[in-house]
Amino acid sequence: MISVLSLTKRLAVPLVAVVLIVGSFFLSAAPASAAEYTVKMGSDTGMLVFDPPTVNVKPGDTVKWVVNKVPPHNVQFDDKQVPGQDKALAKSLSHQALEMAGGSFSVTIPKEAPTGEYTYFCAPHRSAGMVGKVVVGS
Ligand code: CU
Repeated sequence: MISVLSLTKRLAVPLVAVVLIVGSFFLSAAPASAAEYTVKMGSDTGMLVFDPPTVNVKPGDTVKWVVNKVPPHNVQFDDKQVPGQDKALAKSLSHQALEMAGGSFSVTIPKEAPTGEYTYFCAPHRSAGMVGKVVVGS
């Protein structure tokens, strides 16, 4: 007959091994867990919007903008609505070229990007309300 104590011992070693293996997976996976977010330019119903209008990211993540409907579109970060009103940062994240049907581009948020709200717009459609936001968290 197996005593409770020996059963506990028999289970303890595999349990510790599992905890160590799972734990090391999280440790090693964390730095490489950069995510990619996709933002449609022009909604499925043809509205002049970015969809979704806000993406929450972390430094190192990538945002991919894809022309969906009613092009041309671009992405211009507003240097008055980025952390520190940093003109160089706003420019470095912007994609001035107008993208036509089938077009897309990706922007990786720099590791050193300050946290906060980054507001951007589509230059041809800004007055129509085509404005979006990237929120950089830590
Ligand atoms: Cu547009």
